Amino acid sequence: MERIIHPARLVHGELRFAGDKSISHRALMFSALAEGTGELRGLSRSEDCVSTRRALESLGVKMSGSGETLRVHGVGLRGLKGPASELYLGNSGTTMRLLLGILAAQDFTSVLTGDESLSARPMRRVTGPLRQMGARIDGADDANFAPLTVNGSSLKAITYESPIASAQVKSALLLAGLYAEGTTTVSEPFLSRDHTERMLAMFGVPVKRDGLRVSVGPPARLTARSITVAGDISSAAFFMALAAILPGSEVRIADVTVNPTRTGFVDILRLMGADITIEPGTDSTAFEPIGTVVVRGSGGLRAAAVKGEDVVRAIDELPLVMALGCFAAGETVIEGAGELRVKETDRIHSMVSNLRAMGAEIRESGDNVAITGRSRLRGCRLKSFSDHRTAMALTVAALAAEGDSCLDDVSCVGISFPDFYDYIERIIGQRHV
Ligand code: S3P
Repeated sequence: MERIIHPARLVHGELRFAGDKSISHRALMFSALAEGTGELRGLSRSEDCVSTRRALESLGVKMSGSGETLRVHGVGLRGLKGPASELYLGNSGTTMRLLLGILAAQDFTSVLTGDESLSARPMRRVTGPLRQMGARIDGADDANFAPLTVNGSSLKAITYESPIASAQVKSALLLAGLYAEGTTTVSEPFLSRDHTERMLAMFGVPVKRDGLRVSVGPPARLTARSITVAGDISSAAFFMALAAILPGSEVRIADVTVNPTRTGFVDILRLMGADITIEPGTDSTAFEPIGTVVVRGSGGLRAAAVKGEDVVRAIDELPLVMALGCFAAGETVIEGAGELRVKETDRIHSMVSNLRAMGAEIRESGDNVAITGRSRLRGCRLKSFSDHRTAMALTVAALAAEGDSCLDDVSCVGISFPDFYDYIERIIGQRHV
């Protein structure tokens, strides 16, 4: 489904977003493995989280409720049932990688499949260390690509030094560690999002952190909790960016997660000179730091250099940083962002090719991207590569460009944010004529 995007003059409004996708995946999975019934409020409405929910239901977990609250009837660590057929996980890398850690330790066999994009994403980063723990997993290219067959087996703990900072790798191994004999330790080069560690602790699992190393042993049980999932900061980021680019704008975003492992984008926007305030929130049932973020557009953004830990803390927002760089004075440089090449699509290529078509001065070289800002962007035909974050970042660029754009396929936004264009319509001020 294509979409015509007209430039916008400014954005204005108060917004509240559905639950964070990363936190929602974990709330569903950990509640399924817990003892008791967990009430989950404000879960993400993303297609990816539907994939997690369906997979857990196929593994014998019952869920009930409608609207805002979902009740998950936990089956306990040893209560999952072998699925009757393959588990199709759509586009969701998080579902596949985290489930691999859980399924590796069960006493049944499961087969994990996904769409074309997910089937092309590297899984050895998870299946490799899981095999070191004793997991029996088969798939093409030495268990690198789905379909993956997981023959559950008993696991032993390992200490794993991950060469990449990846919450998906870390989480898969910690989940396998819940079943392994001994203490499982994972270290990473930079701290990736820590929702798994926080939530496991909240479900009663002793989790030990020592700098960039985190350990779990096999717990007796996980205890069900009621959770209000904090708003999705990766969805909110598109609206923060629009407000920062378009002078005279103001958006107020209530109750989003402001977990420091997720606020890299806010820090980058500040470095670029955006006017941002964060008012801390108080909902203790979120079990995550939450806040209200206010962004006012004053124009005059300046370039930023993004590397190291900030790349990890803003990994899903880097396509948006590339779009923002086009509107900032000076040269914005993103270094060491090779992980973007193995997301739902190669997000360096998808963004560089489209922004260049709009007239941006943007170059890629290996894992790095450089953008010389203040080249005027012109609306044109754009390609989303069926990738949700590329589609939404390009929509931001197109709204701030001169002239109309046509984005070829926007149905993919449902992967993380089905209501994206409704939110856009709601906050757009007067259009250019
Ligand atoms: C996620 C971790 C990140 C992120 C993805 C969601 C998670 O991936 O890009 O959108 O929920 O754990 P990596 O862990 O591969 O960096």
